[in-house]
Amino acid sequence: MSFTSIPTKPIRLNRSELFVPGSKVDLFAKAASSNADIICLDLEDAVAPQDKDQAKKNIIQALQELDFGKKTISIRINGLDTHYCYRDVIDVMENSGERLDLIMIPKAGVPHDIYAIDMLVSQVENKVGRKKKIGFELIVETSMGITNLDSIISGSDRVESLHFGYADYAASVRMRTTNIGGSNSDYSILTDESNGERVIHWNDMWHYPISKMTTIGRTHGLRIIDGPYGDFSDPDGFKSHAKRTAILGCEGKWAIHPSQVDLANEVFTLPEKEVKKAENILEAMKKAQESGAGAATLDGKLIDAASVRQAEQIMKQTKLIETMS
Ligand code: COA
Ligand code: MG
Repeated sequence: MSFTSIPTKPIRLNRSELFVPGSKVDLFAKAASSNADIICLDLEDAVAPQDKDQAKKNIIQALQELDFGKKTISIRINGLDTHYCYRDVIDVMENSGERLDLIMIPKAGVPHDIYAIDMLVSQVENKVGRKKKIGFELIVETSMGITNLDSIISGSDRVESLHFGYADYAASVRMRTTNIGGSNSDYSILTDESNGERVIHWNDMWHYPISKMTTIGRTHGLRIIDGPYGDFSDPDGFKSHAKRTAILGCEGKWAIHPSQVDLANEVFTLPEKEVKKAENILEAMKKAQESGAGAATLDGKLIDAASVRQAEQIMKQTKLIETMS
């Protein structure tokens, strides 16, 4: 291990994050009674310009009056390139009391974006005497965001998590798709004839940004969260997408419809089979170490100290889910 340690961040369950447009006030109570770990009340892209003011009033009222139970509550503010952004932060934070936990910053591009929001948040926290420190969720959804990822995170120590925004990212790098997530038959390869019949292998066109996010984000101790899957009538597609990002290191996914909440909770709760395997590794390595061995064999495969670290991560996340859900 490096001598430099990874910073610790507030611990939250983030398997599912249900989005609710701030303008659709009748959905708030439904979201509050859902199984989502986090609810994100949106002021940005799901709210039309003429509804922005009313959406903000709805959110402030909900934060004052609605019982969200033990859920973590976030708001997604408008981007720094709009005139809504500063008032989103100030109005909500000055008028909503202590219930808000997180602010989601869209289209994070440079560290100064995050620094600027931190400055606003810090001033309001100070003015209203807030006891609970607001954390930040960053949406990585532009070419600039991916390019500057490492430095963006250092814009504020409030940053807790990175979220991948499929549609904006696709638009930003000019991917030829209009789907929100999903696969594409053109992102595939036709095998040659050397093995007989030629077949098409579909590839994952989102692999690079998500992989970059898990690698860089974990260096800063952040939660990495997979973004939306727009086709809410396709539970199989949602699960398939969620499983692959879980394998890459994400610990949750957005839900843009209530039907996706339980799917996300299911995928991002570690499967019993993996937990059992992790327990077996820890037990086998304990025995090996007691007998003075650094490596051992389990089910015909090598295990060593790195296997212990892998297994410990699985057990840590499992315990977190058991105690917090
Ligand atoms: N939160 C809570 N409840 C929701 C919900 C949400 N985001 N979306 C839908 N519901 C409720 C509906 O009110 C309905 O409730 P009912 O059975 O009591 O009538 C039920 O879930 C089924 O909804 P359905 O009719 O299938 O969907 P819809 O056509 O009403 O809405 C969307 C579909 C996609 C427009 C809606 O789910 C939505 O606005 N999602 C959030 C989009 C968003 O925030 N995007 C930004 C991030 S990408
Ligand atoms: Mg977006």
